[in-house]
Amino acid sequence: MLKLALLAGLVGFCAAAAKLEEVFAWKEVSYAWPNDEARNEAVKNGEYIRENNLPLGLERWKDKLFVTVPRWKSGVASSLNYVPLSPANKTASLIPYPDWKANTIPKGEEKLEDNAIVSTFRVSADSCDRLWVIDTGVADILGGYKIIAPPAIVIFDLTTDKLIRRYNLKPEDQKADASFFANIIVDVIPGKCDEAYAYIPDLGGYGLVVYSYAENDSWRIKHNYFHFDPIQGDMTIGGVDIQWTDGIFGLALGPADETGDRTVYFHALASTTEFSVNSSVLKNKTIALDSLSYDLYKIEGNKGEKSQTSASVFDEKANVLLFTQLVKDGVACWNANKTLNAQNVGMVAEDHENLIFTNDIKVDSERNLWILSDKMPAFLYKKLNPEEINYRIYKVAVDEAIRGTPCEA
Ligand SMILES: *[C@@H]1O[C@H](CO)[C@@H](O)[C@H](O)[C@H]1NC(C)=O
Ligand SMILES: *[C@@H]1O[C@H](CO)[C@@H](O)[C@H](O)[C@H]1NC(C)=O
Ligand SMILES: *[C@@H]1O[C@H](CO)[C@@H](O)[C@H](O)[C@H]1NC(C)=O
Ligand SMILES: *[C@@H]1O[C@H](CO)[C@@H](O)[C@H](O)[C@H]1NC(C)=O
Ligand SMILES: *[C@@H]1O[C@H](CO)[C@@H](O)[C@H](O)[C@H]1NC(C)=O
Repeated sequence: MLKLALLAGLVGFCAAAAKLEEVFAWKEVSYAWPNDEARNEAVKNGEYIRENNLPLGLERWKDKLFVTVPRWKSGVASSLNYVPLSPANKTASLIPYPDWKANTIPKGEEKLEDNAIVSTFRVSADSCDRLWVIDTGVADILGGYKIIAPPAIVIFDLTTDKLIRRYNLKPEDQKADASFFANIIVDVIPGKCDEAYAYIPDLGGYGLVVYSYAENDSWRIKHNYFHFDPIQGDMTIGGVDIQWTDGIFGLALGPADETGDRTVYFHALASTTEFSVNSSVLKNKTIALDSLSYDLYKIEGNKGEKSQTSASVFDEKANVLLFTQLVKDGVACWNANKTLNAQNVGMVAEDHENLIFTNDIKVDSERNLWILSDKMPAFLYKKLNPEEINYRIYKVAVDEAIRGTPCEA
């Protein structure tokens, strides 16, 4: 009888939690140097300090899985990278994208090339085979805070790996001594590639920068909903206590209507509330900057206690918003046809060992959910143990991920 009960318990547990496929698992990351001498040279001159390289953002495009390594500390060998998905190698070395030179900080009088990436947190691939990168332009954030270049949107053609455009954010897009750009979300209708918009949340300056590809122009929006909730900045993650003040952080795009407009879901990181706004409010500069637009922003609801979220992503087919759960060590979901409250939020994955700090998630064109976890609070404020697996990337089909949760239709 006891055996049966145990068995039933186990089966029940398996049914509730989706089975994640572990695709990558690193103790520390290495890079694909052209040869051993180049690697040894980088170690010798401090351009590669292994323990300072923390994978943070991810994106899948065809056979490439992009992995960003922001320059939190010195000794980051390359910030924008990818790993091949076939053949998969769980401990693969990162390959700089588009190449090594673009990921090398210029020395002395050297000029920064237009395709260069100083430091990036998150990137986005669009349906027009372009990779959109938000380059913060700052190296050694926690140490010397070296400003190498202004923050910029850098767009690559993924089919040729060539630069399409580099756009420096304007001084008026930024807030002095406060701005922090760690995410970029691209709004484009398939086939209408020239009408794309990028949304770049400013988590430190509590603003949202919108960039129009057609107009090659940007504007900065303010709203009280872009600020953090003072009650929700106190978190314990992987045994580390943190008090954060990160404002608007994750945005996710609902399906486009006949006019190409979407519901844009957004939240601050230090908050448990989710908000939304019609993209038509963001995309038209006149409307975006009109104070009368204030009331067009809506409160969707509250995700529940300890539901602070970094990145989020919307799956149109299931009509489900997926979002990281930083304090609960996992990923959660909400079906947008239902009221947003704690009862209607489901956990699609939870693991107090392997999903400590789910830093980024994406859904690829085949509707796979990708999850990157990296123990970032311990990396920032303590020290990671190089004998343990610290960085993981998982994959699961969206339909499988939400099965048995309140998010299933
Ligand atoms: C996987 O990648 C690591 C790091 O580059 C390398 O040392 C190892 O040989 C690779 N394994 C296989 C089977 O290719
Ligand atoms: C976009 O605008 C920037 C600055 O205003 C300018 O330097 C750049 O040449 C423009 N790019 C295109 C493709 O028009
Ligand atoms: C967005 O607003 C426009 C203009 O008011 C409206 O036509 C459209 O239906 C709205 N779309 C969504 C997705 O809410
Ligand atoms: C933006 O909205 C204003 C006010 O509704 C309108 O007059 C203008 O034509 C719109 N601009 C664009 C580029 O659609
Ligand atoms: C969800 O809502 C959308 C639009 O509001 C509707 O088309 C769809 O049928 C709904 N789906 C479910 C499963 O209720």
